Amino acid sequence: MKWDSSLYDRQHSFVFNFGKDLLGLLNAQAGERILDLGCGTAHLTQQIAETGAIAVGMDASAEMLQDGRRLYPTLPLYEADAAKFSLADVGADVPFDEVFSNATLHWIPNAEGVVRSVYAALKPQGRFIAEFGGKGNVALLRKAARAALLELTGRDIPDTFYFPSPAEYATLLEKNGFRVEALWHFDRPTPLEGADGAANWLRMFGGAIFHGVESDVREAACLRAQELLRSSVLYSEGAWTADYVRLRVVARRMSQ
Ligand code: BEZ
Repeated sequence: MKWDSSLYDRQHSFVFNFGKDLLGLLNAQAGERILDLGCGTAHLTQQIAETGAIAVGMDASAEMLQDGRRLYPTLPLYEADAAKFSLADVGADVPFDEVFSNATLHWIPNAEGVVRSVYAALKPQGRFIAEFGGKGNVALLRKAARAALLELTGRDIPDTFYFPSPAEYATLLEKNGFRVEALWHFDRPTPLEGADGAANWLRMFGGAIFHGVESDVREAACLRAQELLRSSVLYSEGAWTADYVRLRVVARRMSQ
């Protein structure tokens, strides 16, 4: 998927701003080796590095990494696939103390591939700390986009986001050698910027919704979905709020 990294940083900075909460759970210590999986433009990778930890970023998007390298030229940032990466792919020859991931895992349908790769990237007893969209995430936004597409194209196209329930994700982790130390599933209503906040959100993040849809139809669907949403709880007094639902997890890699 191609990303507009400057639009991401300009209008959707809440993605990494909310990630700051997760840094508290990570509680990085000087000298720890930490992989930031799905680092995007590397703002959080940089904050991890500022603790004195050895931070390495990885992302599947060349565009995001290009901006990250421009902003933070000393950070080691690698292009790699979260569902099948090895230590060598992220420039490492020894496993990490921690793998950290903010707002990335919902893009990757091969969740088992991710969990297995993270397991292999961690030391025994190493921690996996992640936050991403949980069951029910952006349900109204997705429903409106799907209805708009159906109206405009006659096609019913399900999205490919991965938004698991807590039980589903805990089971996946346990099956693959992790102990789940903590898990939260909670609402986070998220203000969107501007009079076209809902359409802008769909323009920026609709990649997993508008599969194979031509750009003019996609644009029309973003606007139509926004109109459908005007009578919903997402719109009030001229302001838009996205119906985010988070899944946050702390899991520890068990020994063999
Ligand atoms: C999220 O952070 O929950 C999210 C962001 C973009 C698309 C889907 C979900």
